[in-house]
Amino acid sequence: MNDKQLVALQAAKYVKNGMLVGLGTGSTANYFIEELARLTRDEGLKFTTVASSTISAQKAQSLQLPIVALEHINSIDLYVDGADEITPGKTLLKGRGSDLVKEKLLAKAAAQLIVVADASKLVSHIGQNFPIPIEVIPFAWQLAKKSLEAFGGVGELRPNAAKDGFWITSHGSYVLDMQFDKNLDASTLNALINNTPGVIEHGIFCGLTGVVLIADNGTVSEY
Ligand code: A5P
Repeated sequence: MNDKQLVALQAAKYVKNGMLVGLGTGSTANYFIEELARLTRDEGLKFTTVASSTISAQKAQSLQLPIVALEHINSIDLYVDGADEITPGKTLLKGRGSDLVKEKLLAKAAAQLIVVADASKLVSHIGQNFPIPIEVIPFAWQLAKKSLEAFGGVGELRPNAAKDGFWITSHGSYVLDMQFDKNLDASTLNALINNTPGVIEHGIFCGLTGVVLIADNGTVSEY
């Protein structure tokens, strides 16, 4: 069993009968979804899910998990998702994929957010390994970029896979991948980006994390 799988199994222990559970996106979240299917099959656990992305919804459906649409919920019991970076203060960087908007909505709606990752995701500051993904309204991208540059942002629109156009998120937005001065702390950056016209959502998750589960060489630690 690899570390991502191990940590996903640990997170599944938090799922109780009758819960509404948010499903994250990525390889670690996929192991969690698979474990939920096993718990239903082998132990008769009963719960409902809501997905953070089309790909997670498809995976849940393929495993016959009960699923409701995001527009039908106003709170959830538990949200389990991976992350791209995790700081000692439990601030996250997310959104390497195309589903930032739903991920942050579920993180905010959840009574508890459990982050599952291997030790490679631990960083000292947000932006250490990846630029900050910032979803922008397509017609506003130049204006938003200029505003972000005014407080030191450097970056470009994310290209599509074929590199012949721009990446489009699940919600029809563009993504600016921007780097900032590492001395700008995450909560200040969070507020500055939130306050930028044309920005729909971005990958800094401040003050939303409950528990972080990290697997490192076969051992899971809880923070
Ligand atoms: C998706 O947009 C991200 O926020 C994911 O949570 C992240 O990329 C984690 O993926 P892995 O579990 O595959 O590392």
